[in-house]
Amino acid sequence: MRIEPVLQDAERRELPLLAHSAFQGDAPPEELVAGLPSVHQGTVRRAWTSGEFRGREDQSLLLHTPEGEEGPERFLILGAGEEDKASAETVRRLAARAVRRTQELSLPFLGFRLPKLSGLSDEEQAQAASEGAVLAEWRFLELQTPKEPAPTPVESFGLVGGGEEEVRRGAEVGRIVADAENFARTLQNRPGNVATPAHLAEIAQEVGAQGAMEVTILGPKELEEEGMGALLAVSQGSTQEPRLIVLEHRGGDQGEAPVALVGKGLTFDSGGISIKPSSGMEDMKYDMSGGAAVLAAMKGVAELGLPMNVLGVVPSAENLPSGTAVKPGDVIRTRSGKAVEVINTDAEGRLILADALSYIGDREPAAIVDCATLTGACVVALGHHAAAVLGTDEDLISALREAGDRSGERCWPLPLWPEYRTQLDSKVADLKNVGGRPAGTITAAHFLREFVGEIPWAHLDVAGTAYGEGKLPYRRDGGFGFPTRLLLEWLRSRTR
Ligand code: BES
Ligand code: MN
Ligand code: ZN
Repeated sequence: MRIEPVLQDAERRELPLLAHSAFQGDAPPEELVAGLPSVHQGTVRRAWTSGEFRGREDQSLLLHTPEGEEGPERFLILGAGEEDKASAETVRRLAARAVRRTQELSLPFLGFRLPKLSGLSDEEQAQAASEGAVLAEWRFLELQTPKEPAPTPVESFGLVGGGEEEVRRGAEVGRIVADAENFARTLQNRPGNVATPAHLAEIAQEVGAQGAMEVTILGPKELEEEGMGALLAVSQGSTQEPRLIVLEHRGGDQGEAPVALVGKGLTFDSGGISIKPSSGMEDMKYDMSGGAAVLAAMKGVAELGLPMNVLGVVPSAENLPSGTAVKPGDVIRTRSGKAVEVINTDAEGRLILADALSYIGDREPAAIVDCATLTGACVVALGHHAAAVLGTDEDLISALREAGDRSGERCWPLPLWPEYRTQLDSKVADLKNVGGRPAGTITAAHFLREFVGEIPWAHLDVAGTAYGEGKLPYRRDGGFGFPTRLLLEWLRSRTR
């Protein structure tokens, strides 16, 4: 889909559809009515007085322009909800609803008038609208026989209103961010037999080549040389070889410390010998969601040309039970030198992340942010509306929370108090890989912390937010691409 940043004279053009929005109220906004051709003005007033359309978020109104009249063939008026609760997320959803409706009507093109939101610049509004539109248009069709006849794609999305330069800038950022998130979604949705660790490594090579980034891939031999006993232990039950994927964006000064993104790339998590129940196990193809988001964020970083140095790291493996699999009770040696007693082979994410964190720590990054579908406990604690954020640096945590609020991919803090650490104490090794039922998200984060040393670090547990039922207008069932937007917004905030 093309984004046309500044669509001039939209009200007079022969567009198939022009979308407007209206905030909730007892009377139709005068600005809205005045902006419509006179043939529609009475209709909108009537819809309002009858109570059928009052600008609520679940309401919309489609008006067909009579034959012979000039201007757009259809006007779509979308309810925008309460004005004082509106944010960038409101604009994202409105744009997505406009695109979805356009898809349903098999129309190739639409215009979207930016709602004038106080508190948001034209640039921010254009970014949000462009994100909503590009995200809404995405579908995962590559494994299905194409439908006949093929549905009409929405080819172009025109932004109407706002200052030209600002809208242009915002629209471009929004397109890049949403393209990146869509890329993560596509990777997430690929099943375990397609998206193997080797596949993710190949994809990383392509992303690196496209974005002029350096790519380093470590296979079994190099992982052995690096002493990555944890990543190797997790993968030893599978015939799929593990990989450690490293992408490097050099947009900053040569001596400038990079920031590092680390993402869990577990391409299928059966639980291993501590096998999971079979019901719903298919969803464990999404256990590489963190890794997908990191690859996607790196793609976005390169396309945005961010003036900073960024490292993207994805440890990738498949967790299966077999005669060669790691067993409960086994003690493994991590790259850091710490010995881990594997109590539960289903707590594998923290193992592969441990080696990745210690590896990237050697590069002395200014900050590390990891993201992982790490614990079921996180889903219990926060459900599907926020990732958990934990870490060693309060400023970093605050910055991530703010980026989350702005991007619409929110995170919420849990404490990393030292008292919880004792749950990981082991009698035979340096630590156990599980801390029992209480506070499972916190003890998992404590485990990771053991491998980051003194570097400012934060961890996002995205188990409840990375995939699911696509209830928002810009989502579909399956992978959400979460937290690609959050990561990119956080990185961008560091350049401001
Ligand atoms: N990948 C899972 C976590 C997960 C659960 C992600 C549900 C998405 C939805 C992780 O590897 C895991 O199995 N964690 C265990 C840890 C436990 C054994 C301490 C869990 O949460 O049950
Ligand atoms: Mn697991
Ligand atoms: Zn897992």
